[in-house]
Amino acid sequence: MAAVDVRIYEVGPRDGLQAEPTIVTTDAKRHFIEMLALAGLMEIEATSFVSPKAIPQLADAEELLASLERRPGVRYPVLVPNRRGFERAVASDVDAICLFTAATDAYAEHNIGMTVDASLGSFAPLAAEARSRGWWIRGYVSTAFGCPYEGEVDERAVVSVSERLLSLGVDQLAISDTVGMAAPSDVRRVVGALYAAGISPDVVALHLHDTRGTALANVIAAMEMEVRTFDASTGGTGGSPFAPGAAGNLATEDLVYLLDREGLRHGVDLDRVLEAARYVHEALGTPVRSKVGVAGGWLPAAHDGAAAGDDR
Ligand code: COA
Ligand code: ZN
Repeated sequence: MAAVDVRIYEVGPRDGLQAEPTIVTTDAKRHFIEMLALAGLMEIEATSFVSPKAIPQLADAEELLASLERRPGVRYPVLVPNRRGFERAVASDVDAICLFTAATDAYAEHNIGMTVDASLGSFAPLAAEARSRGWWIRGYVSTAFGCPYEGEVDERAVVSVSERLLSLGVDQLAISDTVGMAAPSDVRRVVGALYAAGISPDVVALHLHDTRGTALANVIAAMEMEVRTFDASTGGTGGSPFAPGAAGNLATEDLVYLLDREGLRHGVDLDRVLEAARYVHEALGTPVRSKVGVAGGWLPAAHDGAAAGDDR
C-alpha cells in the first residue's frame, strides 16, 4: 500500500446497501465495487454472509464475489455472523472477515440474536480458524457511543468488548457510532478509555454515521488522538435496519474532500468517488445526498477540466 496518512475503509457496498429499501442488481454491485477500487480505495467491505432473511439486500453474496474481479492489493472483507457464514466465506475464497457484536446486549440481540457474551463465545472458534488460514479479521463494536434500545453507553462496556475481541486475535476494532449520535467529546471519552486500557491507536478504526451532522467533527477529534482509519460509504448511503432512525454513513466524498483540503494523503481520487456515488444512487433510484456529492469538489477544473460543482 502506498504511504498514506489516513486509511479510508469503504463500507458502501455492505453497510451502504444493506439499509436501502431498493435491492441493487448483482451486476450493479460489482460495477460499483470496481469503480471504488479504481478510485484508489484499498479496503472495500464487499458484502455479508448473513441470513438472507435478515438482510435480503445482500442475499447474492456468493454470486457477487464469484463475478468480482479482485484487484491485487485491495482487501475485500465480508461480514460473518456465525459458522454458516464462515463456511460460505471459505467457499467464496475470501481472505478478510468481519465479526460483529456490540457494546450493548439489546442491540446484539436485535442484530444477531445473541447477547454480547454469547456472540464472543461463538466467535472464538471462528477467529481461531480464520487466523490459522492467515485471514485478516476486523471486529465491529456496534453501539459504542449510544444504543437505540439502551440509550447512553458506558465507555467501560466498549473497552471490555474491545479487549475480548483483541484476545480472539482480531486485527482491527471498528468502534462504531451505529446510530450517529456522537460528538467530539464522546470520541475523546471512548477512544481515551481504549488507550487508557492499553489498546493501541494502530488497531482502532472509527465507524461513523452522519445522522446528526457530527461525523466530520468526530473525524477531526479522532485524528487529534492519532486514530488513522475511518469508515466511509460512497454516496453517503447506509444505516442498519436494526438501528431505527440511523441515517447514512459518513460519505466517502465528504471525508476525501476534508482530507484533501487538510493536505493529508489517503490515495483516493475525489472525482472518481463522485462518479461512483452518482452511479450507486442511480442504481438505487435515489438522489445523491452527501454534501460534496451535491456541491462537487472545490475548483474541480484544477484536475479534470470540468467545473462540475459550481454552476449548478
Ligand atoms: N447465511 C445464510 N443463512 C443463514 C445464516 C448465514 N450465515 N445463518 C443462519 N441462516 C439461516 C438459517 O439457515 C435459518 O434458515 P431457515 O429459517 O430457512 O431454516 C435462518 O437463517 C435462521 O437461522 P438461525 O440459526 O435460527 O438464526 P437466527 O434467526 O437467530 O439469526 C443471524 C441469526 C445472525 C444469522 C441473523 O440474525 C443474521 O444474519 N443477522 C445479521 C444482521 C446484520 O447483518 N446486521 C447488519 C450488520 S451490523
Ligand atoms: Zn454502520
